[in-house]
Amino acid sequence: MTDLTLMEKIVSLAKRRGFVFPGSEIYGGLAGTFDYGPYGVLLKENVQQLWLQMFRDDRDDMYSVDATILMNPKIWEASGHVAGFSDPLVECEKCKRRFRADHLDNPTTCPECGGVLGEARQFNMMFKTHAGAMEDDSAVVYLRPETAGGIFANFKNVMDSLHPKLPFGIAQIGKAFRNEIAPRDFIFRLRELSQMEVEYFVSPKDWAQAFEEWRKVLHLFATAIGLPSNSVHELEIPPEELAHYSKRTIDFEFDYPFGRKELWGLAYRTDFDLSAHEKGSGVSLSYLDEETKEKYVPHVIEPSLGVDRTILAILTSAYREDALGGEVRTYLALAPKVAPVKAMVSPLLKNKPELVAKAREVREILKKVHPAIAWDDNGNIGKRYRRQDEIGTPFCVTIDFDTLGETPEHKDTVTLRHRDSGEQERLSIVEVAERIATAIR
Ligand code: GAP
Repeated sequence: MTDLTLMEKIVSLAKRRGFVFPGSEIYGGLAGTFDYGPYGVLLKENVQQLWLQMFRDDRDDMYSVDATILMNPKIWEASGHVAGFSDPLVECEKCKRRFRADHLDNPTTCPECGGVLGEARQFNMMFKTHAGAMEDDSAVVYLRPETAGGIFANFKNVMDSLHPKLPFGIAQIGKAFRNEIAPRDFIFRLRELSQMEVEYFVSPKDWAQAFEEWRKVLHLFATAIGLPSNSVHELEIPPEELAHYSKRTIDFEFDYPFGRKELWGLAYRTDFDLSAHEKGSGVSLSYLDEETKEKYVPHVIEPSLGVDRTILAILTSAYREDALGGEVRTYLALAPKVAPVKAMVSPLLKNKPELVAKAREVREILKKVHPAIAWDDNGNIGKRYRRQDEIGTPFCVTIDFDTLGETPEHKDTVTLRHRDSGEQERLSIVEVAERIATAIR
């Protein structure tokens, strides 16, 4: 399988099986937007839930906020985004198409028509709109380009309401918007994206230790969502390429079908943001250490994860083709924790009411282990298995006449079929429930 066809196959499966659809598709689409379908939503929720568990709930020093997307524009002036959140843009003098200069092999020639490209100019990537009925400059607001802004703006609120001691962090999941010059590579480079971000506030002397701690958490998260360790790589960003707020950044890159590219980032943002907001708002954002009586503006470590790039990395890692039973089979070897459906329950024959009733009973038992237990009685059993394989369901459970006691020693046992190997085993319903519980633990 060449890498290009792998990408095409992932995009096709994502659409065919209800993971990801092109945005506004019935109107011809809208560049840089994609919608999550029924299974995509479940996959995304599972990824976000696991992130919340590992980045917030497994720790005693983490809190959440859910800030607005529209915020006072002074936030983005203070953070440096109004002045500096831009990419170099070039325009072809002949066909008038626009390109990101740093993505071109030849920055002087148009890749579409061969025309001459003009001088590069900086293009601000923040989406602008107007709040209220006035459409003049005084009403300009921006759609947030990173969720981080809402965390910094709420630092004082969290301090004043919960009085946490340093170090502590604030986590947030939400939408961010970037007017990318060239959105591309499916859900890799979007104009509307989701981020899972932590701003972790530390004493300046503790930043390096906190940086190392979060670096480990990022690797653990990569493993938990099923990314093979040899497909995730760290890239130390050289000083001259650091974002305006960062003193140190490690990009976590992933081997996507179109090359090794940034998956997540880990940055040491120093006291840049809180100091800038202190200056911009006139409100003190410093912290008083009760023990040492020292007062200072906390420094920040920021693990920042794009949800959509994470989903694409998961789909890329999980996509498989084999020849099970002599037929070409496509399946997603998803980690059970993130799989949209944990198990599918099915009566061997759908026109036998006693089998259907027993299968429904089994499904209710398994639903107590996890709610995402599907039901499928359409078509023959082989077709049902293939459908579940393509959405990455780790287990299929089939109820047959033996379950009902036709062979007395098999009464109340079912067939458990494993997605990756296609192997089947005969187990009691209790054992099946345990297998599912263990797999998703
Ligand atoms: N708060 C820091 C920040 O936003 P970033 O490196 O610009 O840093 C963080 O973005 C993460 O957000 C990236 O590592 C990536 O996962 C995701 N991301 C950024 N731009 C994106 C885009 N246009 N489409 C999809 N995901 C994007």
